[in-house]
Amino acid sequence: MKNNIRFLVLYPVSILYFLLLVGCCQHKPNAIYRIGVSQCSDDAWRKKMNEEMEQELIFHPNLQLSIRHANDNSELQCAQIDSFITEQVDLLIICPNEAEEVKPAVSRAYDAGIPVIIADRQVTGEKYTAFIGGDNYAVGQHMAIWLIQQATLHHSTAKQPLYVIEIMGLQGSTPCIWRHKGLIDGLKDQSNIRLLGSGNANWLAAPARVVADSLLRLYPQTNAIVAQNDIMAIAAAEVVEKLAYAREIYKVNASPITILGTDAMTGDGNGVEAILQGKINASVTYASRGDLVIQSAAKILQGEPFLRDTVLPIMLVDRNTAETMHLMSREIEHNIASIKALQQRIKLLWDMSKMQRNLLYTTVGCLVMVLCLLIGLWWEYRYRRRIRAERAEHARVIAKQQEQLEAITAELEQTKVQQSQDELFMQHLQKQIEKHLNNSQLNVEMLSELLGVSRTQLFRKTKALTGISPIELIRHVRLRKAQQMLRKTDATIQEVAYEVGFTSASYFTKCYKEFFGINPSVEQHGT
Ligand code: FRU
Repeated sequence: MKNNIRFLVLYPVSILYFLLLVGCCQHKPNAIYRIGVSQCSDDAWRKKMNEEMEQELIFHPNLQLSIRHANDNSELQCAQIDSFITEQVDLLIICPNEAEEVKPAVSRAYDAGIPVIIADRQVTGEKYTAFIGGDNYAVGQHMAIWLIQQATLHHSTAKQPLYVIEIMGLQGSTPCIWRHKGLIDGLKDQSNIRLLGSGNANWLAAPARVVADSLLRLYPQTNAIVAQNDIMAIAAAEVVEKLAYAREIYKVNASPITILGTDAMTGDGNGVEAILQGKINASVTYASRGDLVIQSAAKILQGEPFLRDTVLPIMLVDRNTAETMHLMSREIEHNIASIKALQQRIKLLWDMSKMQRNLLYTTVGCLVMVLCLLIGLWWEYRYRRRIRAERAEHARVIAKQQEQLEAITAELEQTKVQQSQDELFMQHLQKQIEKHLNNSQLNVEMLSELLGVSRTQLFRKTKALTGISPIELIRHVRLRKAQQMLRKTDATIQEVAYEVGFTSASYFTKCYKEFFGINPSVEQHGT
């Protein structure tokens, strides 16, 4: 029974305890949230934003990102958003390629109950949870401010208006629309600035070369180019250089063409480097701030208050600012590298501590199990020892009882033998007395000879079996026989006395009276 208890309780409890310990080691403090990121493109600006988001995850270990980019294709982006909906991600971050084309997929996600953060480019309608991005109208206005500065310089030397061409991004995207609007509004009432023409180059270098080439050939008097991003501005700069070399332009206007881009990103091949290298003249910042996007996502997912619309500030970057930015960016890059190294180190230490903690828990669990096992074994050992002792005691009692039984049986046997011997002896004795009853000489000596035993033996045995001596026994037998004769025959007292071995009738009478309490004459037949 106790054995069963051990198996039923002790072992399962210890195993449960061990599993619980292991379970605790694996326990994650916060729920894991899966975030889908739908990027419209995969250029340097997008890569920077993705990197900023990834880096921010250090502070949000419970967030997981899955990034997909749509290659500037709205249809593909809609399909990707739909697959995120099917995968039931916890939140979506969407940078829509085109406002109208991507809107239905965004609405589907929003209607499916998935929080949607729109970043950078916008969608039409109100079906989104939060927006984070630059003020594109302000970008256009900053372009106009820069052109006004250029026009003033240009007019003071050339005494002519500033002729401008514009290279725009993707037609249906909101930055393209709002930057253009900001520019137009900013140039209103600027009589010495003429916007000669605009063309869409979809934010890409190759189309920008085509657009720049055709606009410059169409308007060779151009003094300034504004491009809605640095990629297109740098592409336009290459075209300007090529045409200038071929003296295709400057036939009408010999002054150099100044170029303004947008984004002002530091790093190889980007706007700030291009300004420092003299490829373009200025740029307007357009921050990506992936870190802010993730912070907002975390707030939404954890049910904390968040800003619905976050509009990022912008600024103009000329050569001087570009130099400062370049130096600062190198500092920042250095710091980021240190942070990354630290991050690696922290991860390593964290992994190690996790491993050690798991090891500790496992060791403690194992020790508890071993302890339980030892207790179980000790328990069993004690149980078995007790059972063994009980069995031995039982066997001892049984053996003793057996012994007693055997002794009793032997005694019984002995008694039986003795009884039968005594019976035989008594029969023999009785027979001999009766046989020699009329012999007055019958005494102890004769009787012992007749029975073949010593006088002492005869005395002891007769006394033990009858309670009286042999001599008394002979007398009793004589008297009983006499009584029978007196009652059944007509013999006289004297005849009876002689017949039973008395030599004198008076002595017989005396003995008879002593034995029976009456005179023998009272017994006589017929009286
Ligand atoms: C990157 C980009 C940037 C531009 C932004 C507008 O994909 O083209 O160069 O500023 O998108 O959304």
